[in-house]
Amino acid sequence: ATIHHHKFVIEETTVNRLCGTHNIITVNGQFPGPTLEVCNGDSLVVEVLNSGRYNATIHWHGIRQLRNPWADGPEYVTQCPIKPGETYTYRFTIEDQEGTLWWHAHSRWLRATVYGALVILPKPGTTYPFPKPKLEIPILLGEWWNRDPISVLQQALFTGAAPNVSDAYTINGEPGDLYSCSSQGTVKFLVESKETVLLRIINAALNQQLFFSLANHKLTVVAADALYTKPFATSVVLLGPGQTTDVLFTADQAPGRYYMAASAYATAQNAPFDNTTTTAILEYKSAVKGVSSRPVLPQLPRNNDTATATAFTTQFRSPSQVTVPTEIDESLFFTIGLGLVNCTPGPQCQGPNNTRFAASMNNVSFVLPRQTSLQQAYYQNIPGVYTTDFPVVPPVRFDYTGNVPRGLWQPSFGTKLHKMKFGSSVQIVLQDTAIVTTEDHPVHLHGYHFYVVGQGFGNFNPGSTASFNLVDPPQRNTIDVPVGGWAVIRFIADNPGVWFMHCHIDSHLAWGFAMAFIVENGYGEWESVQPPPADLPKC
Ligand code: C2O
Repeated sequence: ATIHHHKFVIEETTVNRLCGTHNIITVNGQFPGPTLEVCNGDSLVVEVLNSGRYNATIHWHGIRQLRNPWADGPEYVTQCPIKPGETYTYRFTIEDQEGTLWWHAHSRWLRATVYGALVILPKPGTTYPFPKPKLEIPILLGEWWNRDPISVLQQALFTGAAPNVSDAYTINGEPGDLYSCSSQGTVKFLVESKETVLLRIINAALNQQLFFSLANHKLTVVAADALYTKPFATSVVLLGPGQTTDVLFTADQAPGRYYMAASAYATAQNAPFDNTTTTAILEYKSAVKGVSSRPVLPQLPRNNDTATATAFTTQFRSPSQVTVPTEIDESLFFTIGLGLVNCTPGPQCQGPNNTRFAASMNNVSFVLPRQTSLQQAYYQNIPGVYTTDFPVVPPVRFDYTGNVPRGLWQPSFGTKLHKMKFGSSVQIVLQDTAIVTTEDHPVHLHGYHFYVVGQGFGNFNPGSTASFNLVDPPQRNTIDVPVGGWAVIRFIADNPGVWFMHCHIDSHLAWGFAMAFIVENGYGEWESVQPPPADLPKC
């Protein structure tokens, strides 16, 4: 196994986008940031120097970080932020994971521009469970704001209103030529006729589920969240923020130019919808030069096409039979969604009808500590930082996706965690609510991947258990819970430490849609959290 050393300098860079010049925070002046390529079993040593003006941390999204929460990255959860001028070195090993993951800042909205691909190739001497593609291309879908994304967030948090929507969606940092002033920068990929290409698609957008398609080419899904899947064909891929999907296609069409494109799959039914499409160009090397024909556009579903979204997401299966936990030790039921907090009319009360926006799980809106991180507080037994009374079921039962009584719209606030024994088998029902609006929430669990054993619309009820897939359910690290519906996940709590679980829509995260698990140590060194590194940042 190889040890890869990298240096990440978080710094400001000037870029031109959408007819303007902007100072953005980047890693090493690159936007998107560097692609890291490693093999399964390798180790990474990434020295992060923060030369920007905001606190920062880097999260290695989907890396399990076994017994090593210190390298996970979410600020105030597993570490204090790296302050401007300071350095922290992330050291971790890839243990039995292959495919496409990514890294991103995990500090307020910094990840809008601080993100990159993390490609994990098979162990040397082994190969993919599918024919080796000739070409591999990371496709990072993102969202662009003309304003500084951190100030967009700060304004929203100050006023209690919903943050401004982004000004463009992007592919590898570029909006593409359907946006004004963007044709120059449109990303172009060259392919040989007949070759097979692997697209490693990452949804790095802050707040938006995205449909993705490639004109005239059939796509075959082979992996998601760095876990292989039973291959299936599709013309459109749906990714929630945080998710990755690997697809193969063969360049078997007439030599020419084809758009790959992404557009929104609606979240809130009545949220402002930015009806735009980001594009990049796939060009056959043998395409006749000089013919500057407009590339062929793919057909993308409409932004409210839940039927297509569901038809896609329900096709995922593990490649073979898997061992799903069946005896459940921890049976948890979490309602998820938005909320509104009453406030006194004024500049800080700009939500609908004298309210501020909030979001919650089981009606607790999560508050990050500031004096230290949760992982440090747990490890060092620092009292008063968190409580361990996160409710394992909703405080009251109600018709979750029906007409929710107004009295239930207001969450409470707290830093509440749920503690579990090492090795527990866990089931979590994630139930969307119709508070404010029903939405599709991409819920991400750090330090783990989990089986998605069931999902559906409306209220989860015990009868839904009958439809669970306990044979070959897919594994993921981020589950898109259907709009106005539910999903059920299962996993074994075999990675000790404090692990964040949250909506990967960053506006929801900022409003408190999060909780954290403490997974206790088991017996001996191999079931216990390692000691913290000496350079762990201080708060
Ligand atoms: Cu990619 Cu806590 O997130």
